[in-house]
Amino acid sequence: MLVLGIETSCDETAAAIVRDGREIVSSVIASQVATHRRFGGVVPELASREHLDKIVPIVEEAFSRANITKEQIDGIAVTIGPGLIGSLLVGVSYAKAMALALNQPLVGVNHIEGHIYSVCFENPPIQYPALALIVSGGHTNLFFVPQAGKYKVVGRTRDDAAGEAFDKVAKLLGLDYPGGPVIERLAREGNPKAVSFAIPRMGDGKPDFSFSGLKTAVQKYVRESGLQPVSDVGKPSQGIKDLAASFQSTVVHSLAGTMHRVAEEFLPKTLIVAGGVACNGALREASREVAGKLGIPVYFPSPHLSTDNAAMIAAAGTVRLEAGERAGWDLNADVMLRLQNIDVEDAELRKHVRYRL
Ligand code: KG4
Ligand code: ZN
Repeated sequence: MLVLGIETSCDETAAAIVRDGREIVSSVIASQVATHRRFGGVVPELASREHLDKIVPIVEEAFSRANITKEQIDGIAVTIGPGLIGSLLVGVSYAKAMALALNQPLVGVNHIEGHIYSVCFENPPIQYPALALIVSGGHTNLFFVPQAGKYKVVGRTRDDAAGEAFDKVAKLLGLDYPGGPVIERLAREGNPKAVSFAIPRMGDGKPDFSFSGLKTAVQKYVRESGLQPVSDVGKPSQGIKDLAASFQSTVVHSLAGTMHRVAEEFLPKTLIVAGGVACNGALREASREVAGKLGIPVYFPSPHLSTDNAAMIAAAGTVRLEAGERAGWDLNADVMLRLQNIDVEDAELRKHVRYRL
C-alpha cells in the first residue's frame, strides 16, 4: 500500500510517500525556521502563508523523488490536529482536494500519534504494551499504549512543553532559535552540576511535568548572578555553557525519571521516545539507561524523523486506511485534538477526544 502523507500543523511543510507503513519511498520537509528565527518563535500568520506557498511544490517533489505518479498511490493521510489552525487548514484543504481529484481514500491523523509512529521505520516492530514519551515544542506527554491504536495519557505537562522550555531559555540567554539544538551544543562544554535547579514535582504526586517554574528559575539565576546573555553567538561564556548544561540536565532528569517511575507501574515491553526533543543526546542516553534498568528496548526515531515530518503521518494513516477508516468531505482541522481513547479522565477532556473506543 502506497500512502501519501501531508503535514502542515506548525512550521514545517512536509509530504512523504510511504510503502506498507514501514518503508519511506520519499520524504520532503521544508522548514520555516529562517522565517521565524528573528521572532524567537513561530508566528502563526506567517506560518500559514508559507504553507500556502510551499504545499504544491513540496507534494510535487515527494512524487518526483519517489518516481511515481499520483495515480499510483492508494490513499492520503493528513494531519488534522493538534496544531495552529491556519497551518492545519492548508494541509487539510489540499489533501481533501487531492483525494477528490484522484478518487482516493483519505484519513485524518493526530499529529501526536504520528510522532509515535515515527519509530516504525528504523526499529523492530513495537511490542505492546508500550510506553511512549512524546516531547516536542508543543507537547510533553507520556502515553500508555496497551495495543496499537489505544492510548491512555498517564503524564502530561501542566504548563510549558519541554521543547518550549528549551526555546524560551535559549531566548533569554540571547541564543538562537530553535533553542534545543543550541542548548545541547553548549551543554556539551558545560558542567551540569554548576547550577542546581529543583526537579519539578507535582503536589498531588501525579507523574506530570512542569517546566515553566524552571524557566523562571533560570531567569532569576541570570538576574541574581549578573550573568550576561550571549551577545556574540560564536563566543558564549563558560557561565552560559554551565547554565545550559544545568538546565538541560534538569529537564532530562525530569523526563527520564518520570518515564522510569511510570514504567515501573505499567510494565511496558517497549519504551518509545519521540518528538523534536528526542533529538537530544542527553535525553537519549538517560532513556537508554532507564530501558537498561527495566530490561526492555527503547526506540527512537532517527533525528530527521524526530522533528515534524510527513512520513510519520503516512505511517499512522496507513494503519487507519488498512482498517477501512475513511474521512468524509466534512473532515476538519481541530487545534485541540487529543490522543486518548481509553480511560478518558474527565468530561472536559472527553469533548476533544476523536478516536473513542
Ligand atoms: O516535533 P517538533 O519539530 O515540533 C513540534 O511538534 O513542536 O519539535 C520542535 C522542538 C523545538 O522546541 C526544539 O527546540 C526542540 O524540538 N528540539 C530539541 C532538540 N532539537 C529540537 N530540544 C532539545 N535538544 C535538541 N537537540
Ligand atoms: Zn511535532
